[in-house]
Amino acid sequence: MKGLILSGGKGSRLYPLTYSNAKQLIPVANKPVLFRVIETIRDAGITEIGIVVGDTAAKIKEAVGRGGRWDVNITYIEQDQPLGLAHAVKISQDFLGDDRFVMFLGDNVIEGGISPLIAQFANGQWNSQIVLTRIEHPEQYGVAELGDNGRIIRLIEKPKNPPSDLALVGIYMFDPNIFRAVNAISPSWRGELEITDAIQWLVDNQFVVHPYIHRGWWIDTGAPGDMLEANDLVLEEIDYEVEGYVDRDSQVGRRVTVQRGAEIINSVVRGPSIIGENTRIVNSYVGPFTSIGHDCLIENSEIEHSMVLENSQIKDIGTRIQESLIGRNVVISRSPIKPKALKLTVADHSQIGIL
Ligand code: DAU
Repeated sequence: MKGLILSGGKGSRLYPLTYSNAKQLIPVANKPVLFRVIETIRDAGITEIGIVVGDTAAKIKEAVGRGGRWDVNITYIEQDQPLGLAHAVKISQDFLGDDRFVMFLGDNVIEGGISPLIAQFANGQWNSQIVLTRIEHPEQYGVAELGDNGRIIRLIEKPKNPPSDLALVGIYMFDPNIFRAVNAISPSWRGELEITDAIQWLVDNQFVVHPYIHRGWWIDTGAPGDMLEANDLVLEEIDYEVEGYVDRDSQVGRRVTVQRGAEIINSVVRGPSIIGENTRIVNSYVGPFTSIGHDCLIENSEIEHSMVLENSQIKDIGTRIQESLIGRNVVISRSPIKPKALKLTVADHSQIGIL
């Protein structure tokens, strides 16, 4: 089997973080979501992986390379415009050939692996397998309606009145019949060739599409709240290790990872949390569910349930920072210069909440 990861698209719901980088490269617990996807596919025994890239191709190629780090071969497939998930499949036909394949959306994070699912599909007779999960607001996703016999009746993309609470998770398995489907469908109301419509075409034309119901957690990291939620869930799952330096005046909880070269000085760090490589935490409090990226400085400040990306600094902030998503190379500090006022340089589409 081969793997196909979709990593094109614009990521506009994550502006301004995605002005300068691909949304799939935003780290969750200090590792880009896309790297987690590659590892999940590799762990299922697949080594030939295609990545569909769009506007952010250069950033993705620079971060991922040819895949040697994971012992896989990466092929890049350029998509000129984000014309839909089924369009991405269409342009990947040369790479996929006659192989069965798993398609994984590059911004999805799922609990546990997909090895049993892949094994079941690789050796089975099904033409496709889709992954569904029960969620509270299915109207934001593709939704499936199943019959009493557990078979798929219909699939609808982002319906106003969802017929069930079963959302389509961004993991799909196909045999080459999917190319007939993507060539047969037309663009949807949002101008995209929808994979949901292509799978519906398979169902309507008597191909066997097996619905698998996933019972663990799953997150589509499309919006800032989703990112923080994914960070919470992944922080609970990782192995904790202290490789950096913790001084005698600090208290570091059991579920805290301190990466190489990091220093914790006269501070309290509660887990689950992760402190990135060469980051310094000085006279500060870092609370649960926090990821601090590499080469950051947190000094005389308090922060919890937040993500801070690489090379950022938070200094002398008396008010505790919570539920915040702070990008790369950001400086938040107290200024001694009068008048006493907020002095902000804020990118377009930023959101700041002030007491
Ligand atoms: O996350 C699961 C949902 O993903 C499913 O429930 C929906 O049925 C499915 O249509 C999809 O919905 P989204 O609207 O959330 O997809 P999004 O536009 O966020 O794209 C998903 C990933 O695919 C993202 O990493 C960008 C990439 N992509 C997207 C498009 C439209 C491409 O590589 N090319 C594209 O043309």
